[in-house]
Amino acid sequence: MRLTDCYNTEDFRKLAKRRMPAPIFHYIDGAADDEVTYRRNTQAFERCDLVPNVLAGVESIDLSTTVLGQKLAMPFFLSPTALQRLFHHDGERAVAAAAEKFGTMFGISSLATVSIQEIGATISTPKLFQLYVHTDPGLTRSMIDRCKQAGFEALAVTVDAIVGGNRERDLRTGFTMPMRLNWRSLLSFASHPRWAFNYFTHEPFELSQLKDYVKAGTNVAVSVSEYFTGLLDQSLNWAAVEEIAKYWGGPFALKGIMSVADARRAVDIGATAIIVSNHGGRQLDGSRAPFDQLAEIVDAVGDKVEIICDGGIRRGTHVLKALSVGAKACSGGRAYLYALAAAGQHGVERAIGLLRDEIERDMKLMGCRSIAELGRHNLKFR
Ligand SMILES: Cc1cc2nc3c(=O)[nH]c(=O)nc-3n(C[C@H](O)[C@H](O)[C@H](O)COP(=O)(O)O)c2cc1C
Repeated sequence: MRLTDCYNTEDFRKLAKRRMPAPIFHYIDGAADDEVTYRRNTQAFERCDLVPNVLAGVESIDLSTTVLGQKLAMPFFLSPTALQRLFHHDGERAVAAAAEKFGTMFGISSLATVSIQEIGATISTPKLFQLYVHTDPGLTRSMIDRCKQAGFEALAVTVDAIVGGNRERDLRTGFTMPMRLNWRSLLSFASHPRWAFNYFTHEPFELSQLKDYVKAGTNVAVSVSEYFTGLLDQSLNWAAVEEIAKYWGGPFALKGIMSVADARRAVDIGATAIIVSNHGGRQLDGSRAPFDQLAEIVDAVGDKVEIICDGGIRRGTHVLKALSVGAKACSGGRAYLYALAAAGQHGVERAIGLLRDEIERDMKLMGCRSIAELGRHNLKFR
């Protein structure tokens, strides 16, 4: 199987599985507890069907949408995900360049492996920084300051990861911090020499936004485990997020809003957008799928805040369904992460290109010339 044999997310997933050491593949592919929410995120789109109109004169289609003050050439953007240089040695550089090629937004994680400064200096496509809020307000503010200096356009505060989810696949493979690899995992690293060669012959792995942040009184940089156990602020509340938004002063989103009550509070604190998301099923298993929850949120606050549907998107038709319910854009992680892991920038470009083509083809088949023409009228729930 080669990259040119990949036509959809599942194909990229299979190729990634073949090319990567198992512990890393399962870190991307896995989710919390029994992974019920993870599966439901995609299955939810099968709850309804598209009802096309025909003969609409669809020779030219406008796929653009505007979110967080940014015009995107397509209504899907790349969600922020951690540790990308572990998946492929080009990591965020590959993902950002692919996003730029398609004129869409690139989300960079607080746990990214390329710095805010470098992405700001090299990438002109809209950039969203995903902020985890730290116990040390100085660290949180310094990340925001770097985003301002680097010309980031938008900030998203992730609110659904106040503690880490229970990812049992990682416990089994030993992909924990610190690593506790068992003999099968070690064998898997040994049997993927290309990955290992690339990993060890490129710039050393680092958490770029944290590498200068040292444990108090020492010169030891923090690890991911310390980060989640000690550095993230579990006392985070609405007032604190409102303060952060004020300090940022630009377009900002809350990532991981699921309830209507919280969506209303997000409006109250002046959010530009809410990202309806359960972190790709990686946090609270048994929580509802974003698409299942979307209509209620759109009905409550859709005229006051932009709504982004995140998670489970594997097909152009999934994007069309979410937009028909009232989302302004969709975002996703694994839809590009498998491709990154399988084939770097070429892979991500192929994955986004195929998704873009699907969205365009599906719009034409729906008889819709622009995103604004999609609505609930073209959706029927079973
Ligand atoms: C490997 C991986 C790492 C992730 N890291 C982060 C992160 O650092 N911050 C964050 O807010 N979300 C993170 N997410 C969640 C994504 O931003 C997004 O919400 C999720 O992937 C959507 O589900 P999907 O993968 O089905 O598209 C991560 C997801 C994956 C798969």
